[in-house]
Amino acid sequence: MGEFTVVSFFTGMFWAMVYWVVAIFQFFVPPPRKDVSGKIVLITGAGSGIGQKLSIEFAKLGCSVVGWDISTDGLSKTGSLMSDERMTSQWHPYKCDITDRHRVYEVAEKVQEDVGCVDILINNAGIVTGKKFLDCRDEMIIKTMEVNTIAHFWTLKAFLPGMIDRDSGHVVTVASGAGLFGMPGQCDYAASKFAAVGLTEALYCELEYSKSTGVKTTVVCPYYIDTGMFKGVETPLLPMIKSDDAVNQIVDAVLRNKTMLLMPRIVYFLYYLKGLMPAKTAFLTGNASGTMASMDTFRGRVD
Ligand SMILES: NC(=O)c1ccc[n+]([C@@H]2O[C@H](COP(=O)([O-])OP(=O)(O)OC[C@H]3O[C@@H](n4cnc5c(N)ncnc54)[C@H](O)[C@@H]3O)[C@@H](O)[C@H]2O)c1
Ligand SMILES: *[C@@H]1O[C@H](CO)[C@@H](O)[C@H](O)[C@H]1NC(C)=O
Ligand SMILES: *[C@@H]1O[C@H](CO)[C@@H](O)[C@H](O)[C@H]1NC(C)=O
Repeated sequence: MGEFTVVSFFTGMFWAMVYWVVAIFQFFVPPPRKDVSGKIVLITGAGSGIGQKLSIEFAKLGCSVVGWDISTDGLSKTGSLMSDERMTSQWHPYKCDITDRHRVYEVAEKVQEDVGCVDILINNAGIVTGKKFLDCRDEMIIKTMEVNTIAHFWTLKAFLPGMIDRDSGHVVTVASGAGLFGMPGQCDYAASKFAAVGLTEALYCELEYSKSTGVKTTVVCPYYIDTGMFKGVETPLLPMIKSDDAVNQIVDAVLRNKTMLLMPRIVYFLYYLKGLMPAKTAFLTGNASGTMASMDTFRGRVD
């Protein structure tokens, strides 16, 4: 698409620099939040933690919220936490195991009929093994990749075509800091999250390249959050993020079309530093701060 010439190179670089300046400006003066009232938001893993709170927040903003989870108990809990009549009338829970692609396509069609076209897709469901590489059971490695990465392909296949047709929509990937940094006890988890980050970045480029710029992407990479998913981990320097705080920041990033959200803020700096440091220096920095040992006390959800 388009031919490479000296002129195309310099025009491209000119706009690249313009957007850099715009981004610096927007760091100080954030762009306005978009109005999402009346929009349809689909959230996977809506029966617990971040997904549950995101469901409530988007319902408060006047969205119709479609919640998917394997846990029907979790979904009913989410519904019961929606305080008023208006919110509960806009809550549409569906039991769906996102690792079963046939089920994903089937439930996606049902959603289309019952509620309508999904405007905002939030791939949030996730699981973690939390063991050293050689202690990870094969089944858990496969499951982790399936839930944290491969399921995103199925939900995207189901809902992205509609967004592209309307040149309007938003794909949100709840990845993790583990999608940018590796550490002991997270080999399968980090692999799945790096993959989710890569998928979203490549998709962002495809959308820009095809000039479907009405469809936005946001990838979220938080450090540990206190939802219970990482129960037991010890974080001597950086405290766990409060889930309400994480959810507020995620909603804000979506409403402002932010392409990438790292939490807490210092992670932007650490991510940049990692690109400059030798591997051993990066490792020793992580070790000195106690981060490398954080998974040693992991218990996770004791279901
Ligand atoms: N909690 C943290 O410290 C933390 C940090 C960074 C990133 N994240 C990511 O944020 C996301 C949400 O995490 P959370 O802390 O809210 O976790 P959580 O365990 O509270 O919630 C995850 C939800 O996903 C659902 N789920 C699991 N497998 C599923 C499947 N096959 N089909 C449908 N639903 C399924 C679970 O039933 C659960 O309701 C995850 O992707 C996680 O990796 C969490
Ligand atoms: C965000 O994207 C939507 C299109 O999806 C657009 O209408 C809106 O103006 C954008 N808002 C910001 C703050 O960029
Ligand atoms: C990592 O840090 C711990 C202290 O928390 C220290 O005992 C250990 O020797 C360090 N490991 C390496 C490889 O430097």
